[in-house]
Amino acid sequence: MAKTKTRYVCQSCGSAQPKWQGRCPDCGEWNTLVETVIQEPAPGRASMGLADASTVPLALPDIPADGYERIPVPIGELSRVLGGGIVPGSVVLISGDPGIGKSTILIQLCAMLADLPDRGGPVLYVSGEESAAQIKLRAERLGIVSPNVLVLADTHLESILTHIERVQPRLVVVDSVQSIYSDAIPSGAGSVTQVRDCSAQLLRLAKTQTFPLFLVGHVTKEGAIAGPRVLEHMVDTVIYLEGERFHSYRLLRAVKNRFGSTNEVGVFEMAERGLVEVRNPSEAFLAERLPNSAGSAIAVTMEGTRPLLVEVQALTSATTFAQPRRTANGVDFNRLLLITAVLSKRARTRLADQDVIVNVVGGLDVEEPAADLAIAAAIASSARNRPVAADLALVGEVGLNGELRSVGHLPRRLNEAAKLGFRRVLVPRTAVRKLDPTPAGLEVLGARTLREALEMALMPGPGEDEDK
Ligand code: TYD
Ligand code: MG
Repeated sequence: MAKTKTRYVCQSCGSAQPKWQGRCPDCGEWNTLVETVIQEPAPGRASMGLADASTVPLALPDIPADGYERIPVPIGELSRVLGGGIVPGSVVLISGDPGIGKSTILIQLCAMLADLPDRGGPVLYVSGEESAAQIKLRAERLGIVSPNVLVLADTHLESILTHIERVQPRLVVVDSVQSIYSDAIPSGAGSVTQVRDCSAQLLRLAKTQTFPLFLVGHVTKEGAIAGPRVLEHMVDTVIYLEGERFHSYRLLRAVKNRFGSTNEVGVFEMAERGLVEVRNPSEAFLAERLPNSAGSAIAVTMEGTRPLLVEVQALTSATTFAQPRRTANGVDFNRLLLITAVLSKRARTRLADQDVIVNVVGGLDVEEPAADLAIAAAIASSARNRPVAADLALVGEVGLNGELRSVGHLPRRLNEAAKLGFRRVLVPRTAVRKLDPTPAGLEVLGARTLREALEMALMPGPGEDEDK
């Protein structure tokens, strides 16, 4: 038998509200809410609450756009990943490895929204994993004392929903969605049905009460979001917090965003007092670089739409094994094999009896082929003991024949290099012709092959290891 519930449906915009109000919070019209009895969907078939029988189709121009005014987020890097603030009623799924800082960044966000000038108010942090006392400890460490941050240590969905309706919070965080269970569903907490249906109910309340909802999602061993795939379809935004646990840098990456670009990446550093945004990541990644040391080269990679300068380091040393070893940190292992093979075969760099270790400084993962040239230059630089010129950055993909291939977003990469004080950038020659104009003060060098590029990039050094 289908259950029914009472909602107040706006005759102007069709939104359903849990309580009667004089003014519709969605479209701002007065006296448009009408008491309506709604049939609840059968358990397990929960719709997203957006298509109740009482809604009416609206012509595009008639749809009120207000209510979607974004809530400003004082953390610039988080704001850009979300598409420039938080949309009320939007649901964000944040995922990442254990211990990477999800709870930390969310409690920081709670504190900021609770105390926003003019728009502050209660925010609700629901924790199904940690006790209220544990959260208080973390908050204290972060210097958060706001009385507007309400912590609810609970895993029972029905009780969480009641508290949300009572508190009417500005923001709700549920940490984590896998820890929540509903009485109405027979399977255990964390099961696919529980995760899907609990999220659907939370999501529906977020849409009707128009508060932003942040859900923390666990990841599987392979790094995908645990639970039903449909979770990612249901929510408006999916973001990942990434990084190496023992490195301090964290990348916040939007992989889906209904309210902004998915190409945005925010850079943070895990510090004593929580996650601190890194406004100029390239500068941070290059801060400890030793200029003029052999085995180091600067690549200009793209993280989403943002150019990032990173230092690639390489060390080659005579092997003690029958087969020389290759070790890749932050670059793809197969890419490293390809580059060492091309270096040996096409660029006269003898590596057959050398172990090769490559490392990207700062714990970053560089997946782009545009970093090939810098990786190759770092390896050749170490093998020949000739440093790469300190004022030179490198961009280009290396092909199997030793040719350099052009890559996308070159103007943006060049601007970033110029901004950080690099005076020369070495790029594939084919790309030079298309450039017009080049950033002021930057010399763009073109090379056709890897061999040619290395001749231009490597400075005369002691050269005792150099291959003849
Ligand atoms: P946490 O937010 O609990 O991770 P998650 O929720 O993703 O599992 O972060 C835990 C790690 O962050 C822990 O190893 C300690 C570190 N940390 C700091 O370095 N500084 C801080 O201010 C805080 C709160 C945590
Ligand atoms: Mg946590």
